[in-house]
Amino acid sequence: MNKTVTMDAPATERRLDDMVQGLVGKPLDRPDGPRKVTGTATYAHEWNLAGRAYGVFVPAPFARGTITSLDTEAVEAMDGVLRVITDARFLRNPAQGTANEAPIQGWDDVHYMGQPVALVVAESFEAARHGAQNLSMTWEARDATLDPDTAPTDAGEDFAQGDLDAAMKNAHASVDATYRTPGHNSAAMEPHCSAAVWHGDELTLYGSYQMVNFNVNELADALGIDAEKVHMRVPYVGGGFGSKLGIAPEAVAAAIAAKELDRPVVVALSRPQVFEATMRRSETRQRLRLAADADGRLTGIGHEALVSNLTGEEFSEPVTQSTHFLYAGKHRKLAIDIARLNRTCAGSVRAPGEAVGMPTLENAMDELAEKLGIDPIELRKRNLPDCHPESGLPYSSRKYAEAMDAGAKAFGWDQRNRTPGARREGEWLIGHGMAGASRVNMIGPASARVTLDLDDAGQLRATVETDMTDIGTGTYAILSQIAGEMLGLPMDRVTARLGNSDHPSGSGSGGSIGASSTGSAVFLACEDLRAAICARLGCDEGELTLKDGTATAGNVRRALGDILDGEALSATGTVQPGDTASDVSQASYGAYFCEVAVNAVTGETRVRRMTGAFGAGRILNAKTATSQCYGGMTWGIGMALTEELIHDARDGHIVNADLAEYHVPVNLDVPQLDVILLDERDDWACPIQTKGIGELGFCGAAGAVLNAIYNATGVRVRHYPATLDKII
Ligand code: MOS
Repeated sequence: MNKTVTMDAPATERRLDDMVQGLVGKPLDRPDGPRKVTGTATYAHEWNLAGRAYGVFVPAPFARGTITSLDTEAVEAMDGVLRVITDARFLRNPAQGTANEAPIQGWDDVHYMGQPVALVVAESFEAARHGAQNLSMTWEARDATLDPDTAPTDAGEDFAQGDLDAAMKNAHASVDATYRTPGHNSAAMEPHCSAAVWHGDELTLYGSYQMVNFNVNELADALGIDAEKVHMRVPYVGGGFGSKLGIAPEAVAAAIAAKELDRPVVVALSRPQVFEATMRRSETRQRLRLAADADGRLTGIGHEALVSNLTGEEFSEPVTQSTHFLYAGKHRKLAIDIARLNRTCAGSVRAPGEAVGMPTLENAMDELAEKLGIDPIELRKRNLPDCHPESGLPYSSRKYAEAMDAGAKAFGWDQRNRTPGARREGEWLIGHGMAGASRVNMIGPASARVTLDLDDAGQLRATVETDMTDIGTGTYAILSQIAGEMLGLPMDRVTARLGNSDHPSGSGSGGSIGASSTGSAVFLACEDLRAAICARLGCDEGELTLKDGTATAGNVRRALGDILDGEALSATGTVQPGDTASDVSQASYGAYFCEVAVNAVTGETRVRRMTGAFGAGRILNAKTATSQCYGGMTWGIGMALTEELIHDARDGHIVNADLAEYHVPVNLDVPQLDVILLDERDDWACPIQTKGIGELGFCGAAGAVLNAIYNATGVRVRHYPATLDKII
């Protein structure tokens, strides 16, 4: 059985609103939680493949040029070293951030400092590392381009509507300000690691990746073999944040080394190698222009950005993504230029686009609100368009105003400081700021198989199988909740088996599509199973109630196990994006409210409290959804105050390539966060009426912190992060 739904029309099935088992939406614990905290969840480095050898990358010690010789013989003569591999297939730089595309082919040169140029394989990790540190080489250097402000650029997006220059000239009030955000590293807790083993011409790769369905194809493409020969096992992922969307060099290298040496090979990246050799978020320079009339209605909006990437890479940080549809304004100019630099490849990091585009837009809105003397919430409400201001499409669902109201009420926005610098507690200046949240919504093709059968003890169980991943987001929980709800089984009778490429292809975890897409696939499979149960009972679907393993229809009541009659019942559900993706403007929305204390002597900022209210369609698990938002807001605090990739001006290398020097927020940086989830259904989004929530909590969060810093101090910091030197 295979039930497929293409989203060509709004969803009408409301089965998940008709809660019988009582699972969907509830703040249930993750079934994988105990496995993780007891160390029994197997991560990529923990497979302990018998006879495995260890590979360590050698990074290029120069920014641009060609390697002319490598002294592999000297290293291969070292104790424990098995082989130095310089295969061009991993000398090439896999494209990051475009998970559906194969790595760029045909790159034999060095394009950035730290690019992997060789793999030393040895009997132990230590021997491999020693060999890697001692591989000498010669090269011909070429001039590298290292400064985004002076680099040659390619034109990316270029959208114009009306005459923004005229709107600016005729405005009652306007803002024309340039903001900068630095590069970011994904900073997933688990560094990249791949363990490869071949059985004949079949490869099994134990890795840490987000999009197994795509990654299998990328790997096959990089190795020049059929995708059917590639098997991936990715049951647990210690965070991805974009850096594991596409395969990184270690996966290709492990596969090549395992083939050459005819034994399993594991390649784990060190933290500095994760920074240097996987990918980064581009730094941005953003010019924001807002023109408004005396009533605070926007007449024009401009958002022009400079981002960077390697030459030939297609990805560019989509900075203006939400600016296209968030606010009114007849005259518009949105553009992105891509500087071509010899820096680590840029890709998708934690909500590409809105992560850095929303905070600056919301800073500019804050500046405009002040000029107009209008409350920041009121300014935003006055500029909510009735329909998409460029395409004219209706919004599928948009609880932006509701999020601002709910957040303001919970936060006590009416009690805020109103005059910058006016509220002081000893050495500390106290300020309040708000910002909106917005993240585009979409789904991806996804399938999942659900099987009902009896276990060895004769107990009824449901098993969900897909190659979908759980990257710390709660996928195991939500897919089990959907299946349990639909089939009338408690959580402990449902097992999700994830991250196995031999299962039906889920959506993968990226772009906040996972829960909606793969959740819908599970839902559709269960609808098929319910139909099969109805057929066996001789009843209509509308009459069927499934609860705690018992089926009831009219006056018929039977144990579900009996209905199976000793056979397993299995169905596959598939969802496909369709016309609704282009019929309506789809996004998740929210709002942040932040209180900061800024030390008047040192300039140090402490976030005292932060509230976020979000509308993301149906919430599948209140606990894991809230945790996603906690995570996003935490990243927002980091982006606002500490996070910053620093590149050496001489060679472009990342100076602070570890978590000691690249400052992600730690416990002491983050106060109690309050998250409010609004009740919402989006029929246009997917069969289960959910929208993306994974990235939403980050999309604007840093803007609220900087707006609060201004409110505390009267200092507008337009270059992120707001370190103390910029405030004092
Ligand atoms: Mo996300 S940056 O699409 O993993």
